[in-house]
Amino acid sequence: MKTVALIVAAGTGERMGGSLPKQYALLAGRPMLAWSHAALSADPAIDEVFVVIGEGHQALLDSALPGARFTIGGATRRQSVALGIRAIGAADRILIHDAARPFVSEQVVDHLLSALETADGAVPVLPVADTLVAADGTNVPRAGLSRVQTPQAFRDEILRRAHADWSGDEPTDDAQMVRALGGSVALVQGDPMLEKVTWAGDIAAAEARVGWETRTA
Ligand code: CTP
Ligand code: MG
Repeated sequence: MKTVALIVAAGTGERMGGSLPKQYALLAGRPMLAWSHAALSADPAIDEVFVVIGEGHQALLDSALPGARFTIGGATRRQSVALGIRAIGAADRILIHDAARPFVSEQVVDHLLSALETADGAVPVLPVADTLVAADGTNVPRAGLSRVQTPQAFRDEILRRAHADWSGDEPTDDAQMVRALGGSVALVQGDPMLEKVTWAGDIAAAEARVGWETRTA
């Protein structure tokens, strides 16, 4: 059974700002992308790790992760995933992961892959702790709602089909595309360590999660 992890790292990190796309920014002494790449590469359940990078980012990848296998992504996350899937050969199971979520544990990967025994896909989720409100002031009941993280794991065939056929609105993850085909997606226990780095202050928060003292000078 062949399992491939695809890290999408072709974004520009608009919301973060800064001189480098956020996935190449130093996080606890190491480029952000290198964290998840190392964790997924070391995971015994994963056979290959592949990175989707932005056009013109090859020199950045070479210095962050010399020798990493990669392909060039597209203008949206969905396009980057689709190009990545096309670049990797046939597999049985594919994990799609955001470079913006640096800390992946073997435990989460184990839960996802176990869930694939009976489902077409599996995603890590955390409960919503805050009260939710719509723009018009209407309260949105949070009971039963979850926040979805990555890595997301899928059976190869349905993920390829979802990306080949897509004609809907721009999705924010792959699970919604698999569900749109009628695929089953299991929800497994997420991990606070997988929180996404989106805004400038999130770097320091991520560093604190691994006990690193952020240098502010
Ligand atoms: N991503 C990608 N290709 C794109 C857009 C996003 O591979 N065209 C990747 C990002 O590199 C990131 C993940 O998808 O690892 C999640 O996206 P997000 O956190 O939104 O990153 P950015 O799109 O880079 O940030 P922003 O939306 O603030 O510009
Ligand atoms: Mg984005």
